[in-house]
Amino acid sequence: MTSGTGPTAPLWVGTSWKMTKSLGEARDFARALAGAATPGRWDGVQPFVVPPATAISTVAAVLAGTPVVVGAQNAHWADEGAWTGEISVPQVADAGARLVELGHSERREHFAETDATVNAKVRAVLRHGLRPLVCVGEPASVRAAGGAVPFVTAQVTAALAGVPRSEDVLVAYEPVWAIGDGGRPATPEDVAPVCAALRAELGDQVPLLYGGSVHRGNALELLEVAGVGGLFVGRGAWDVRDLIALLDLAAGSRGR
Ligand code: PGA
Repeated sequence: MTSGTGPTAPLWVGTSWKMTKSLGEARDFARALAGAATPGRWDGVQPFVVPPATAISTVAAVLAGTPVVVGAQNAHWADEGAWTGEISVPQVADAGARLVELGHSERREHFAETDATVNAKVRAVLRHGLRPLVCVGEPASVRAAGGAVPFVTAQVTAALAGVPRSEDVLVAYEPVWAIGDGGRPATPEDVAPVCAALRAELGDQVPLLYGGSVHRGNALELLEVAGVGGLFVGRGAWDVRDLIALLDLAAGSRGR
């Protein structure tokens, strides 16, 4: 599959389950997704699922042999050691993760994630041959003050300091005000200027995903924003039927 951001590059479309799903629910979801992943169905799309750490190995085992990439929601910058409660990149890789989400706004807000720790984690993920999926996005107050573009550009510059802008790195633009319950779904007009600035900052290799209140109804218009090469979905894909529908929509958009 061709990588990068050109017209034939895959559209990355996937979901983080955040802190939801039992092992049984995770297994059922993965089985349904594996069953739907018939050859050719999602050509042009790179599906991915990011379970909680408890379910990575279960989900990876069910999805082995399918095109679906399994990820982790976080990983520490150190390979091992006295870091109670943390999980290392080698450990999530051992469990079957091939991608690591980093810097989500919920982690920045509640768990003291900073641009510096995100950068250290990006380097660790790349050192072990996995893909970082770096989340950036401005809070509502910053947008209201007209500062979204410089804020988000600074976040991505810091997160990727010293890191080659290659296709191994993924970035998700997720405005904080658009995420989660109570989030306001963004319009293409909201998103376009920031995506244009990020595209200029990232060059032509790093895929740029959009996330925040994405659902079946707005997925296509957000995918059509210039520079956007994928979707990172929370609640709108926690039911496997919704993720399958979103993957079908993305594949269909490639066929048009
Ligand atoms: P949401 O979450 O789709 O539930 O708004 C998106 C995200 O946090 O990535």
